[in-house]
Amino acid sequence: MNIKFDKFIIALAPMAGVTDFAFREICADFGADMVVTEMVSVKALEHKNNTTIKMLRDDSKAIRCCQLFGHDTESLQQALTTNLFDHFDVIDFNCGCPAPKIVKNHDGSSMMKNIEETRKVILSLVKNSSKPVSVKFRLGIDNNINYIEFAQMCEECGVSFLTLHARTKEQGYAGEVDKSAYEKLIKSVNIPVFWSGDIKTQSDLDYAKSIGCSGVMIGRAAMGNPEIFCKLKNNTPPYTKKEAIKKHLNLLKTYYKSERTLVSYFKKHLMWYVKSMDFATSIKLQILQFTSLKEIEDLIELIP
Ligand SMILES: Cc1cc2nc3c(=O)[nH]c(=O)nc-3n(C[C@H](O)[C@H](O)[C@H](O)COP(=O)(O)O)c2cc1C
Repeated sequence: MNIKFDKFIIALAPMAGVTDFAFREICADFGADMVVTEMVSVKALEHKNNTTIKMLRDDSKAIRCCQLFGHDTESLQQALTTNLFDHFDVIDFNCGCPAPKIVKNHDGSSMMKNIEETRKVILSLVKNSSKPVSVKFRLGIDNNINYIEFAQMCEECGVSFLTLHARTKEQGYAGEVDKSAYEKLIKSVNIPVFWSGDIKTQSDLDYAKSIGCSGVMIGRAAMGNPEIFCKLKNNTPPYTKKEAIKKHLNLLKTYYKSERTLVSYFKKHLMWYVKSMDFATSIKLQILQFTSLKEIEDLIELIP
């Protein structure tokens, strides 16, 4: 299925443990054109795991993309024939996760090992999905740089667009992305290519645009910083950081039943939110000790 982007897309990258439904909604409010869920296990969906199904909540006003991982074609087929993805615009497939427990299970970046085996999975995904399918991948795995061949296989399967994170699985998130890889990829395929990796500034964005990328995905630079989407578009923020933090917490209250789980989850977001503030250093240690919602809410009130 084809997808046509009528403008350069600035997206929120998928990040496990970060891009929850509330954060995606906030980033969309601040101008993200597309938002991507955390990676969602197809196996867990097949087993009707409630926590996983809840990860599919999405109320954001942006192109909504759900990222799946899992190599089992039957589980994929079963998941895709449900109505779980009706409210999404795109299904993305994760072929880049370097986490040992994912790779050991032949998922994530491990999907780049055997291109012909992965072809079957992606073909089945494209065939069974009523939405455009995209694939996110790396330069390669086990020091075998095969992203061009991998991308061409995806295109042959009918994938709508590609997102490259130009590091190998072994590089994890360290060092610099291989900037030359994006241009090589764009020249090797006829479908849109997105840049993922180290996008922080207007000049990063301009460079990605200048070489022909259809969009960028912003990951770590958006943590605690949904304002980045406004800044990159020269738009006025729809509300303040303090309001964003409150909205994030209030939305998550409707999601987590246990205060303990909510507090422990939200603390890391709060640390990212306050990172750039003047009183960050003194307050971070304090946040780590928080055990109640009241402590979090009292701190938010102190934010100017
Ligand atoms: C905490 C964290 C979780 C991530 N989870 C995912 C994920 O679930 N799926 C995925 O495709 N990439 C994931 N990534 C990779 C990002 O989407 C992105 O490709 C990478 O961080 C490079 O972009 P950045 O420099 O803008 O962060 C994750 C990255 C981080 C830091």
